[in-house]
Amino acid sequence: MNNILITGGAGYIGSHTAVALVEAGFEPIIIDNFSNSDVSVLKGLKNILGRELTYYEGDCNDRALMEKIFSENEIKGVIHFAAFKAVGESTKLPLNYYSNNINSLLVLLETMEKFKVKDLVFSSSCTVYGQPDELPVSESTPRKEAESPYGNTKKICEDILKDYIKSGVNSRIISLRYFNPVGAHPSGEIGELPLGIPNNLVPFITQTGAGLREKLTVFGDDYNTPDGSCVRDYIHVMDLADAHVKALKYLFQQQDNFYDLFNVGTGNGNTVLEVIKTFEKVSQKPLNYQIGPRRSGDIEKVWANTDKINSVLGWKAKYSLEDSLRDSWHWQQKLVEKS
Ligand SMILES: NC(=O)c1ccc[n+]([C@@H]2O[C@H](COP(=O)([O-])OP(=O)(O)OC[C@H]3O[C@@H](n4cnc5c(N)ncnc54)[C@H](O)[C@@H]3O)[C@@H](O)[C@H]2O)c1
Repeated sequence: MNNILITGGAGYIGSHTAVALVEAGFEPIIIDNFSNSDVSVLKGLKNILGRELTYYEGDCNDRALMEKIFSENEIKGVIHFAAFKAVGESTKLPLNYYSNNINSLLVLLETMEKFKVKDLVFSSSCTVYGQPDELPVSESTPRKEAESPYGNTKKICEDILKDYIKSGVNSRIISLRYFNPVGAHPSGEIGELPLGIPNNLVPFITQTGAGLREKLTVFGDDYNTPDGSCVRDYIHVMDLADAHVKALKYLFQQQDNFYDLFNVGTGNGNTVLEVIKTFEKVSQKPLNYQIGPRRSGDIEKVWANTDKINSVLGWKAKYSLEDSLRDSWHWQQKLVEKS
C-alpha cells in the first residue's frame, strides 16, 4: 500500500513531486481540475516514467469525488498542492482564493478522517513571513500580517492544521514553507507552465529570452541589497520535490497526533539582477530588460534558514541557481519547439 494522493498533481510542483515519488517507490494518484495546468503535463510525466499514472480530473472541493478516490484506492498519505497561487489576482478575487484554498483543505481533512488516512504534507509558503525582521528566516521567526489574500490563505491553512492537531486527532501533518521554486525536470518534459502573463520572475525571463515577450521589467534597483534589486531564495523544483518525499517518509515514522513545519529553500539569497546575469550565462544570449519603479507589495529581501530541514529531515538543496536556470531554459526551448 504505497499510494500517495497528490492534489494539484498536474501543476508545477505537483508534477515534479510525482516523479520523485515514483523514484522513491511510491505510487502517485493525481487529482487536478486543470484550472492552472494542462493535460499535456500527463504526457510529459508518461515520457519520463515510461507509463501512465492514475489521475482523476475534477475539483478537490467536490466531496463526492474525493470520497470516490479514497474508496477506489487505498491511500497511504496525501500531499495537498491544489490551490490558487497568484498574489496579484488574489487581491482582485479574494473570495475565490479563500473559497478554493481553504475549503479544499477542509474537504480533504474530513475525507482523510473518514477513510482513516493519517498523513498529510501541506504546501505552505514563505509569504507567511512577509518582510521579516531577521534574516535568514527560521521557522520560529514570527509570521507577519499577510500582504495579500493569497498569503492569508496560507496562514489560515497552517492555523487550521495546527488547531486540528491540537484537538487530539491521530493525524500526522507537515507544512512545508517553500521559498521561490524555479527550474524544471532536466529532461525538459515537464516544467512551469504559466497560463497567460507569468507572475513569477523566471518564466518571464525565459519567455523574454525566447522572444515571446519583448522586455522584462526589474521592479526597483534602489532596495537595500547588494545591487539594489530584490533578494529571494530560489530553490530548484527537483530539490523541492525531494523534500516532499523526505517529509512523507519522516511522517510515517512519527507518533500519532503530530504537526511540524519546515522551510524549504537553499539558504542563499540571490538578487533579481543576479538571476538575469545567470540566465544570460547559461543561455549565452543577452536579455532585454529595463529597470522600472518598485512594485507595491514587494518584499525587499527574504531567504531561508534551512538548519531545521537539513538536520531533522536530512534534506539539503543540491542544485545551484545555474542548474535551475539551465533547466528552465531547456524547458522553455522545448515548449517553443512543440508550439
Ligand atoms: N510556485 C510557487 O512559487 C509557490 C511558492 C510557495 C507555495 N506554493 C504553493 O504550492 C502549491 C503548488 O504550487 P504550483 O506552483 O505547483 O502551482 P500550480 O498552479 O502549477 O499547481 C496547482 C495545481 O492545482 C490545481 N488546482 C487548483 N485548485 C484546484 C482544485 N480546487 N481542485 C483540483 N485541482 C486544483 C491547478 O489546476 C494546478 O494544476 C500551491 O498550494 C501553491 O500555493 C507555490
